[in-house]
Amino acid sequence: MQDWRKLYETPPESGVLFYNEKVMDHFRHPRNVGEIPEADGVALVGDPRCGDHIRLYIKVKDDRITELRYKVFGCAAAIATTSILSELAIGRRIEEALEITDDEVIKAAGGIPSGKAHCSLLGVVGLHYAISDYLRRKGEGNSGDKR
Ligand code: FES
Repeated sequence: MQDWRKLYETPPESGVLFYNEKVMDHFRHPRNVGEIPEADGVALVGDPRCGDHIRLYIKVKDDRITELRYKVFGCAAAIATTSILSELAIGRRIEEALEITDDEVIKAAGGIPSGKAHCSLLGVVGLHYAISDYLRRKGEGNSGDKR
C-alpha cells in the first residue's frame, strides 16, 4: 500500500501540485471576498473546461477602482489568484486596471504550478468584463448593449 504522505514529499515533476506560502495564504484567507450591492460594474465569467466561475463587482470613483469584491466557485488557484488580483486592482485607475494580465497576477503570487496558470485568468477576465460593464453604464462602452 502506498504511503499517501510520500505524495507530498515528492518533487513537483511528479505531477503533484505545490503551492507556495503566499498562494496558500490567499487561498485560506482570501481578501476582499463579497458582493457590492450598488456596484458600478459587474461581471459573471466562467471557464467551460472546468466549470469554475466567478462573479466580480467593482466600485469606481473619479475613474479609479475604490472597491472590488468577488465570489469564486472554483479551485484553490482560482480563489488565491483572484484574491491577489483584487489587491493589485484596488486603487488603480481604470486604464491601469485594464493592463493587469494573468502574468502579472502569477508574478505577484510568486509563481503557480504551470498546470494551474490558466486559473489566474478567471479573475483577470472577470475584472476586464466588470470594467467593460462600468464603461457601458457610463456610455463609453463599445458593446452596443444599452440595457
Ligand atoms: Fe478551473 Fe482552476 S481548475 S479555474
